[in-house]
Amino acid sequence: MKLILLGAPGAGKGTQAELISEKYNIPTISTGNIIRAALKEGTEMGLKAKEYTERGELVPDEVVIGIIEERLELPDCKNGFILDGFPRTIPQAEALDKMGITVDAALSIEVDDSEIVKRMSGRRVCHKCGASFHTEFKKPKKDGICDACGDELIIRKDDEAQTVLNRLQVFHEQTEPLKSYYEAQGRLIEVEGQDKVSDTTALVMAALSKI
Ligand code: AP5
Repeated sequence: MKLILLGAPGAGKGTQAELISEKYNIPTISTGNIIRAALKEGTEMGLKAKEYTERGELVPDEVVIGIIEERLELPDCKNGFILDGFPRTIPQAEALDKMGITVDAALSIEVDDSEIVKRMSGRRVCHKCGASFHTEFKKPKKDGICDACGDELIIRKDDEAQTVLNRLQVFHEQTEPLKSYYEAQGRLIEVEGQDKVSDTTALVMAALSKI
């Protein structure tokens, strides 16, 4: 299974990727997580990406294309993978095609902007491992503490209200056109994001079982 997850920031790509990854036993490659890890480590790439992510803008294509090219060469990708957050622009999709990679599907999780704003304000992420929770919809077992590694949960810097609005605008302008790109290839699947994570998962799994 080679899968692309499309959807607005906060649509639930990371949440569903984790569940698909478990079920199909394939790795999730999240450009957002890779960039945040580089930022935390203070690598050259992280420093380059910082100003873009904090403004809610996209990191330049050449940076993320390089990251993905290297990552897809690792042996754990040989039986498939989930791309969460890549491609995000038409040039990135074209670069993936040029790498000779054909995906089975581009699955788009559809959620209204107003719902996105609500979700982002309640998201909490683990400072250490990046696991994602929600104050209302996906509560950790212990308040403020990561279920997976026990570290502290924090608010992502780019989840501040104004930055979320910028990210939504960037999504509509630069990422949404990818739906037509994959529709033209006959690979687009659209799923309506639901109020409950498990209800979205049921729709996602049903759609994937038909591929
Ligand atoms: P990235 O980390 O990819 O951010 P994003 O796409 O904006 O996605 P998010 O991680 O914010 O949301 P998600 O859809 O995964 O939702 P989640 O499952 O967490 O990228 C960050 C930045 O890095 C970008 O802005 C850009 O600068 C840069 N970048 C990354 N890739 C790039 C690329 N290819 N090119 C250029 N730049 C790039 O869910 C959100 C919340 O809602 C959670 O709290 C969750 O618990 C909750 N939730 C999930 N599903 C439901 C549900 N059904 N009902 C209720 N709550 C739910």
